Amino acid sequence: MTGFVSIVGAGPGDPELLTVKGARRLAEADLVLYDALVSGEALRLATRAHCFFVGKRAGLPSIRQEAIHRILIAAARVGKRVVRLKAGDPFVFGRGGEEALALACADVPYEIVPGVSSAIAAPALAGIPVTHRGFASGFAVLSGHDAAAWGPMVDAIPPESMTLVVLMGLGARATIAERLLQRGWPRATPAAVLLAASTPGAATWVGTLSELGSASLPDAGRAPGTLVVGRVASLATAIGSSVRSGLGATATITAARASGA
Ligand SMILES: C[S@@+](CC[C@H](N)C(=O)[O-])C[C@H]1O[C@@H](n2cnc3c(N)ncnc32)[C@H](O)[C@@H]1O
Repeated sequence: MTGFVSIVGAGPGDPELLTVKGARRLAEADLVLYDALVSGEALRLATRAHCFFVGKRAGLPSIRQEAIHRILIAAARVGKRVVRLKAGDPFVFGRGGEEALALACADVPYEIVPGVSSAIAAPALAGIPVTHRGFASGFAVLSGHDAAAWGPMVDAIPPESMTLVVLMGLGARATIAERLLQRGWPRATPAAVLLAASTPGAATWVGTLSELGSASLPDAGRAPGTLVVGRVASLATAIGSSVRSGLGATATITAARASGA
């Protein structure tokens, strides 16, 4: 009796940005293990499944990664169709690779259902193309979680050579901005902070690299946020003002308004 595990990306928050395949797997599932940032509306697609939260929340007790592996394996071995539902794409800072390896080692059949990553969707919804002819011909996606990891990468990137997208970097934005300035990025380099993209609480701050560290943000403590540094961030005003998501207009806070100017 072997079931099947689908490691599914839920997208950045708006359930309409879940893939058709992801929605189908949820409808067929017996068991769903879901992370923080997964929307309740996505879970409602899992009409016949038991759904359990196994997310990790900063500073709060959370289930160990190995325990998640054990549950996935045990449920599949008794014949269940399991969905492991993760925010964005499961292989972008989501530990989806570790779970796939655990399933492979246990000889449990599984699949990966990619999701729309916030690394690209959050900028796009704010009107920021991560590449744009004449502005940036490449982009790097970093985690701002651990300076020991992002520091050497930031130091290795020539100033203004590409767009930098930083996930999990809200709390470290002042340190990241300072390191980029030391590396030689101009103070006037456009920068943006994209909060809760694709959700009704979405907000966008647009300013410069020198203002990024002191940017005053709504709900910065709770909403997920993505940082963008590079010339493409200047397009948020031109493109973003005409972009409308299915959930309505994205609130935009410019640096000038945020600082009361
Ligand atoms: C643990 S990482 C997971 C990333 C996810 N696998 C993905 O591909 O989007 C969580 C981080 O993704 C970013 N993020 C997730 N959802 C977001 C959203 N709706 N708006 C802005 N950033 C988001 C934030 O930087 C957050 O701290």
